[in-house]
Amino acid sequence: MRSAKDFFTPLAVGAPAPVREVPARPSRMIHFFDPSNPRMAAKVPQLVGTVDVLLGNLEDAVKAENKDAARAGLVEIARATDFGEHTQLWTRINSLDSPWVLDDLTTLVTEVGDRLDVIMVPKVQGPEDIHYVDRLLAQLEAKAGLTRPILVHAILETARGVANVEAIAGASPRMQGISLGPADLAADRRMKTTRVGGGHPGYLVRVDPVDGDITGARPTFQQDLWHYTIARMVDACAMHGIFPYYGPFGDIADVVACEDQFRNAFLLGCVGTWTLHPAQIAIAKTVFSPSAQDVAHARRVKEAMGDGTGAVMLDGKMEDDASLKQCLVILELADRLSA
Ligand code: GLV
Ligand code: MG
Repeated sequence: MRSAKDFFTPLAVGAPAPVREVPARPSRMIHFFDPSNPRMAAKVPQLVGTVDVLLGNLEDAVKAENKDAARAGLVEIARATDFGEHTQLWTRINSLDSPWVLDDLTTLVTEVGDRLDVIMVPKVQGPEDIHYVDRLLAQLEAKAGLTRPILVHAILETARGVANVEAIAGASPRMQGISLGPADLAADRRMKTTRVGGGHPGYLVRVDPVDGDITGARPTFQQDLWHYTIARMVDACAMHGIFPYYGPFGDIADVVACEDQFRNAFLLGCVGTWTLHPAQIAIAKTVFSPSAQDVAHARRVKEAMGDGTGAVMLDGKMEDDASLKQCLVILELADRLSA
């Protein structure tokens, strides 16, 4: 059973007063495993302490014929593993319109509800989906005699979900965060892509022609397909004091583009990402931890700003209350990671 010290009130500098409590421990990477796959399940104990979150996936990527085995496997793993102080246990249940979700919730809460930190709900369309899960959890927790509420994380992967993202973020005090689900979202929006997250070489802008010559060589710049959605999700999460995450990056071999995508999300405000392969764990850890250079700079600004008001010049740049607040965000994250 996790203790009360595992919860904290997020300090978003300059943001409205936090409205709820979310887990204090950082979750830079939510590492997915398939509990029905004995090879992956066997690796779980080795990952404890290395990853911030281990997520037993019951939804997509688990074959229909393996849904029961995945659920049972997760119960077994949850019971047998000591997750220690630094690794949380999450699950992704099946979608609310599937034949498996009721069994997912009843079994997991009843059998291992005291071990589960967060339940990730896929394909959330609106606050009503969160209300439904919230009610069910409340009933199941009461029946199981659980004293610590299980938190809820929504995946943003339908057009309707994106349209309702602010209401989803604020739908329940259980809301821990929201992840981008680029693969399902692309399909739901009828985007003409075939990938799991990341960019696309066709989504670009070209610099203007010189002297009207459209045939001359002109550089192009690839654009981020996910910028709009991530920015919307980040705003919704900040408004409600919960955490935003990037989701899956399916091109496991392309560690360079993966790092770029993760970094864009980090810079825009996300606190973490999903990792689908061990190769992505180290990338997420590096990207979602503030760099030593950024921390050193933030400390200098804090020191130079004295009582925090007014403006100072540092290395030829103006620093004021607002840049100090940005620096405090970096320092708070660094503190939390070193705790
Ligand atoms: C994740 O579930 C996605 O659809 O991208
Ligand atoms: Mg999905």
